[in-house]
Amino acid sequence: MLRSFRSVREEETKSMIRYINDSSSSSSSVLNLSEMFVRLTNDVVCRVALGRKYNDGDGGESGRMFKKLLGDLTDLLGTVNIGDYIPWLSWLSHINGLGAKLDKVAKQLDDFIDTAVQEHMNHSSKSGDDDQKDFLDVLLAIQKENLAGIPIDKDMFAAGTDTTYTALEWAMTELLRHFRVMNKLQNEVRGIVGNKRDMITEDDLVEMHYLKAVTKETLRFHPPLPLLFPRMSIRDVEVNGYNIKANTHVFINAWQIGRDPKLYNKPEEYEPERFLNNGIDYKGNDFELIPFGAGRRVCPGIQFAMAVNEIALANIVHKFDWALPDEASGEDLDMTETTGLTAHKKYPLVLLPRYYSTIRTVKILCVNANVTEIALVNIVHKFDWKLPGGATNKDLDVTEATGLTMHRKYPLKSVVVSVNANVLNWFLGKYFVFWEFD
Ligand code: HEM
Repeated sequence: MLRSFRSVREEETKSMIRYINDSSSSSSSVLNLSEMFVRLTNDVVCRVALGRKYNDGDGGESGRMFKKLLGDLTDLLGTVNIGDYIPWLSWLSHINGLGAKLDKVAKQLDDFIDTAVQEHMNHSSKSGDDDQKDFLDVLLAIQKENLAGIPIDKDMFAAGTDTTYTALEWAMTELLRHFRVMNKLQNEVRGIVGNKRDMITEDDLVEMHYLKAVTKETLRFHPPLPLLFPRMSIRDVEVNGYNIKANTHVFINAWQIGRDPKLYNKPEEYEPERFLNNGIDYKGNDFELIPFGAGRRVCPGIQFAMAVNEIALANIVHKFDWALPDEASGEDLDMTETTGLTAHKKYPLVLLPRYYSTIRTVKILCVNANVTEIALVNIVHKFDWKLPGGATNKDLDVTEATGLTMHRKYPLKSVVVSVNANVLNWFLGKYFVFWEFD
C-alpha cells in the first residue's frame, strides 16, 4: 500500500520551521511568508507526485524552469478567453496570442513530465519498497500491470500548490488582523502540546478543534478558487426558475455563498467560533461551504491540502509569535486580492517572527514608584505565574546583589500561565523603560 505521505508533510514543515528559526535569530529579519508557503506546498506536492523537490535550491535549472512553468500555467488558467463565452469570437485567441501561449506552456509541461517519467523508469529499483514510492511510481506500476495508458494530470501541480499556499497565506493574514483569534489558537496549540521543542505531528492535531475552525473560517472568507472551476451543462435544465441551456458555461460563486447573510450570521466578520459545535464541513456535502467544489468532480486533494495546512499552521503559531514590521498593526494589512483563477494576496505577507518560549527572564528597571504600582497591579491582574520545572516558592534563591541598589542576584525566571507573549510584550513595553527576554 502506498504510504499516506504523512512523513513528507512533516519533514517539509520541519524544514520550514528550521528556516523561520534561523531567520528569527536576527532581530531585524523580516520573512516573506507568501514565498515561504509557495515553497512549502510546491516541495510537498512535487515530492509526493514526482519523488523529489523542484525548487531553486534543490532543483537547479529544472527547478527554476518548473516554477516558472507553474506560474505561467496559473496565469493562463485565470485569463479570460473570450471564445469561451462568445463562441463565434473564438478566432480572437489566434490573434491575441492566447492560443499560442497555451499550446507552448502545455507542451513545455508535457516535456517536463515526460522527463520525470523517463527518470522514474530508469530507476525502477524502488519498486519493491512501498515506503519509497511516489505517486508516479504507483501509476507506472499500474500501467505495467494493465498495459493501459494512465495520464499524469499536469493541472494537479497548479491545482495543488497555488490553492494550498493561498489558504495558508489568508489564514496567517486573518490571524494577524484578529489578535483575539491568534491568541486563542496559540493557547489551544500550546495548551495541547505544551512547550514541546520538537515538531507538532499529525497525531497532535486530532484534539485541535479551534485550529480546524480557523481553517474552515479562512476557506469560507477567502476561498482560494472563488468561482471554483468552470463547468458546462450537458443538457437543458431548470435551476430556481431559470432555464439553462445545454452547453452553457456555469460558474459557481463560492465566495458569495460564504458571505450570504441567509446562510451565515454576521458573514463579513472573521469568527472561527461559528464552526465549533456545528457539523458543517468542506467536503462537498454542505453547500454553504464548498471551497473544494462538490459532486463527482469535487477536488480530490481535500484531505491532503488540509493536512498540509493544519500541520503548517499549528507549528507556526506554536513555535513563534508574529508581528508586522515597523510596528504596523493588523488593520494596516493590505487585503487586495489578485485577479485570476486563484485569489491570493496581491502583496506578499511579510512578517517578523520571534521564537516563543514559555520560560522567560525578565529584567526590570522601573521609572518611579507610581509606575511600579501600575506594573504590579497589571502583572498580577492579567497573568498567572509559576516557577519553571515544577519548582515551588521555597526553591527561589533570594540572594541580593551587593552594591548601591540591592536587586536580586539571580534573574527572576518565571512561566506565564495561559497568556500570549504579545500581551506581555505590549504591556512591558508600555510600563518599563528597559526590559529583556531570553
Ligand atoms: C486548499 C487547497 C485546495 C482547494 C481550495 C482546492 C479547490 C479545488 C476546486 C474548487 C476544484 C474544482 C472542483 C469542482 O469544480 O467541483 C478542484 C479540483 C481539483 N483539485 Fe483541488 N483544491 C485544493 C488542493 C488540491 C491539492 C493539494 C491537490 C492535489 C495534490 C488538488 C488537486 C485537484 C485536481 C486534480 C482537481 C481536478 C479534479 C477534476 O477536474 O475532476 N487540489 N480543487
